[in-house]
Amino acid sequence: MIIAGARPNFMKVAPLMRAFQSYPYSNPILVHTGQHYDDNMSRLFFEELQIPKPEINLGVGSASHAQQTAAIMTGIEPVMLSCKPDVVVVVGDVNSTVGCGLVAVKLGIRLAHVEAGLRSHDRSMPEEINRILTDAMSDLLFCSEPSGIENLQRENVESKKVHLVGNVMIDSLLYCRKQAAKSLVLERHGLEQKGYGILTLHRPSNVDDNRVFSRIVEALEEIQRDMPIVFPVHPRTRACIQETYLGDRIKAMSQIMMVDPFGYMDFMKLMSSAYVVLTDSGGIQEETTILGIPCLTLRENTERPATVDMGTNQIVGTDAQRIVAAFKAIKRRNKLPETMPPLWDGHAAERIADIIIEDSSVAKQNYSLMRSA
Ligand code: UD1
Repeated sequence: MIIAGARPNFMKVAPLMRAFQSYPYSNPILVHTGQHYDDNMSRLFFEELQIPKPEINLGVGSASHAQQTAAIMTGIEPVMLSCKPDVVVVVGDVNSTVGCGLVAVKLGIRLAHVEAGLRSHDRSMPEEINRILTDAMSDLLFCSEPSGIENLQRENVESKKVHLVGNVMIDSLLYCRKQAAKSLVLERHGLEQKGYGILTLHRPSNVDDNRVFSRIVEALEEIQRDMPIVFPVHPRTRACIQETYLGDRIKAMSQIMMVDPFGYMDFMKLMSSAYVVLTDSGGIQEETTILGIPCLTLRENTERPATVDMGTNQIVGTDAQRIVAAFKAIKRRNKLPETMPPLWDGHAAERIADIIIEDSSVAKQNYSLMRSA
């Protein structure tokens, strides 16, 4: 059983579904928790990434962390009881990941975590708590970069459970690259190759806190004098903008283009042609690394240090002067780094499927041996 819940999960489950479907008897069941539900946060991604329609959609929707996680847990428990999967595969670090993981282990079902071991070491991030808990519960831990292995070793996770397999998000990017290149998003928005920046913001620590958000806005006021900035606005961020005076300040900037969130193909095309990306997203730090696009991460830390080691990503925090200085220091460094993190080659999902299938048959053999003893 493969679980998807929120937008950053969808590009991770797409290659996993393809990999499992290539095994004749693996019978993957896809469940959507419904944590994200807007067309442009969910349906569009299923269509563009050709993800099969989920067999079950729990339709949990938005709520506080406790309410949302509880709805995910009470929704998924009867599904797991009736489907009796050999293994539950959760991806990333959202509430659907930890909620479904906890239900699986309590039902005695083996749990696999894809994108294990990432740590920002910042426990104020809801995702950091989700990552730590999910890893602590998992039987199989699949890491996307070497730091994941080191973090899990430090946390005394048995090494036989841990596998460095590469990055399923990059599997999707490489798989869709040709199709994304055909997108006409630049023409639609009157943008020129390498002549614009992109901004994405949605972390609660940036957008829910007015003081932090206004420092970022101050930096934007300066940067947009140099070039247009495309700003696809996440629903959480839109709500924060509407509630404060910051909306008027952003609208007053002539070169900021506030638009609805893009689908996958348009956004990949937009990123690959950008001069710079400013973001607080985790996945975008990785995608800009593969694309060779400078990325300024508007956070104080990253759980993805490989992106910094490769040279495309810089952690610049949220101080206006620091962001502007980092922007000015980018001198068209948009060439591919010399090397890539190990195994970011488009085949991570196949490695994961191989290991899970092997693990399930060993687990089944051990179970029958135990029963016959
Ligand atoms: C969630 C994840 C975060 C991930 C992000 C990607 C958790 C704890 N957080 O944060 O790790 O980086 O998704 O987008 O799981 N909303 C809509 N339509 C939707 C979904 C949400 O309008 O389809 C609005 C709702 O008002 C909701 C708010 O956005 O309250 C936030 O959504 P939520 O899923 O709670 O968290 P995200 O900020 O999206």
